[in-house]
Amino acid sequence: MADLRTPWVYLTTPIYYVNDVPHIGHAYTTIAADVLARTHRQGGAPVFFLTGTDEHGQKVWQSAERHGLSPQLYVDRILPRFRDLWSRLAISNDDFVRTTQPRHIKGVSEVLTRLREKGDLYEGSYEGWYCLPDERFWTDKDVENGLCPDCHRPVERISETNIFFRMSRYQDWLVSWYESHPEAIRPESRYNEIMGFLKKPLSDLCISRPKSRVPWGIPIPFAPDYVTYVWFDALLNYVTVPWSLGATPEEGLSRLWPAVHIIGKDILTTHAVYWPILLAALDLPPPRLIFAHGWWTVDGEKMSKSRGNVVDPGALVDLFGADPVRFFLLREGQFGQDVDFSREALINRINRDLANDLGNLLSRVTAMAFRYFPETGVARPEAGCSPALKEAAEALLPQVRLRTLSLEFHRALQSLWEFVAFLNRHVDARAPWVLARDPALREDLSAVLYDLLEGLRLTGLYLAPFMPETAGKIMEALEVPAGISLLSYETHGLPGLEALYRVRLAGALFPKRDAQGNPLSEEGEKPRKSSSPAPGESGTAAAAPAKDSAPAPAVLGEAPAPEEPPINYADFQKVQLKTGVVREAVPVPKSKKLLRLSVDIGEAEPRTVVAGISGSYSPEELVGKTVVVVANLTPATLMGVTSRGMLLAASTENGVSLLTVDRSAPPGSGIK
Ligand code: MSP
Repeated sequence: MADLRTPWVYLTTPIYYVNDVPHIGHAYTTIAADVLARTHRQGGAPVFFLTGTDEHGQKVWQSAERHGLSPQLYVDRILPRFRDLWSRLAISNDDFVRTTQPRHIKGVSEVLTRLREKGDLYEGSYEGWYCLPDERFWTDKDVENGLCPDCHRPVERISETNIFFRMSRYQDWLVSWYESHPEAIRPESRYNEIMGFLKKPLSDLCISRPKSRVPWGIPIPFAPDYVTYVWFDALLNYVTVPWSLGATPEEGLSRLWPAVHIIGKDILTTHAVYWPILLAALDLPPPRLIFAHGWWTVDGEKMSKSRGNVVDPGALVDLFGADPVRFFLLREGQFGQDVDFSREALINRINRDLANDLGNLLSRVTAMAFRYFPETGVARPEAGCSPALKEAAEALLPQVRLRTLSLEFHRALQSLWEFVAFLNRHVDARAPWVLARDPALREDLSAVLYDLLEGLRLTGLYLAPFMPETAGKIMEALEVPAGISLLSYETHGLPGLEALYRVRLAGALFPKRDAQGNPLSEEGEKPRKSSSPAPGESGTAAAAPAKDSAPAPAVLGEAPAPEEPPINYADFQKVQLKTGVVREAVPVPKSKKLLRLSVDIGEAEPRTVVAGISGSYSPEELVGKTVVVVANLTPATLMGVTSRGMLLAASTENGVSLLTVDRSAPPGSGIK
């Protein structure tokens, strides 16, 4: 086989059936491929990113019949649902294939002719079971109780003559190819699954359907009574499109081949077995990589029309915007594993990661730069950015890119958010508003703000593939010229690059959301006036109560409920409050909410404090934070860990917000 490896990155998604509306499963695959495509482009690689629609087959034909339309009119009408959604989700595909396009039909006919000439096709008769929803045949040993072994719906008995592809011929070749290329299917568990599947003998693949039964498909040039089996037709899109791009098919393909295919785990066999065999029969090398991601469940259940729980990505974009949806889908779970969708989880991510961590950082930093240096802007100090910023950027940001390139999207975003947490800590630790009070510290103030602005610029650069619109807004606020997609890691990834920042005031990037997802007004963000948080809320005073999920104690500092008598100052003095610095934070095993913290309150040893805040804070962002600790509370043992203190926090609709001090104070400072 010719070695057609090129520097091009050719990325594909599955082509989606048009007999259904797009859901978050479709959006997931497409967004992941888009992030990968954008990351490669920012790295300077030429990319060809292809997605499209699968428009033939019995199911589409039957749906068209039900709607009283011709199949072509029907698919033409459904198509915009996909196209519009991709444009609203900022998908940057380079081409869009429809299997009803003449270029694809021409390519499929070409393949059929080549395979026939090679002797890889034959006519045979078939008697067995047929699953209509999956559009595939099964043998007696596959079918139990008249049900499809794959989708568990009833199968029909069918007997007919068809055209078969000699797939079995290539089985040994495929096994030995995978043995020497274990990296070709990811994650590893999916590679093992395919190797297990290939232990059984492969049957030949039935690649035709009689027109009398399925009239909607690509005609078979040498068998007028048949159309092409929809899966055979669909898989070929990955080749027919590049074939159509060059002066000759070979020339078009040689630029791009082989492809990286991102798919869902349910269509792994077709992609990892049928597809490389088909390619081998066409004398083409196997795909560069097949990555099968997991499935989205909804509130713990399978997503299905019959359950009525199908999540519409368009409605999510309407409510939250494209970027938060893109961020959530890739941040929430590991790309190879199943993930659960809940509106609550989405809202938590928006409020915590996006509004608190990133949005607040941008508005605070730009507001300070604008206020303290309105005339001159913030110039780069002679020595450039601080070693601390440089160190954090060099340690964390390359990981964002590397992890994205290996499709570990959630870990890539974790690294980026560690960098954002570093910037937030830098704000707290260097307290620019304190420096601003002393004219002698003006240079220090400028240097601190320069670091923060550079940090934000780098955040925007690395965020761009995931959240292109947000990255654009960050760059706009920083007045960094050039469209974000034009910025490359190589030329723009250095900390200390920009000479001068004249910022614009940035509005809130992400409004906080209430439990229904509606944007909260300032008013709505105030803590509720109830003296005890709702059950399940992690609570205001953040030391966990006796049980992981029990209500937390009342809010310190809130107006007492009318029936409670007021306390006097001596009562209040009984509570010993101290500042503490979190030195370590780890989850308490088997607990959803509890974190075990090691808090330095100025004593010989740090105290262990158990806090029910993991719904609102990640362990990494706590380390280094100054908190307020109730130091004289009787110790309590929670999930096997003894807590010797309690953290104070404000309770909001969306979790807790820890109390901290306005200026730096050493650990153990008293609070009155
Ligand atoms: N038309 C075929 C693919 C042909 S590719 C040559 C097809 N189409 S599909 O519209 O049914 O689904 C396409 C993709 O959506 C698959 O990758 C599938 O895994 C994904 N998903 C469908 N439901 C899903 C979830 N609940 N979660 C995540 N992705 C899932 O199959």
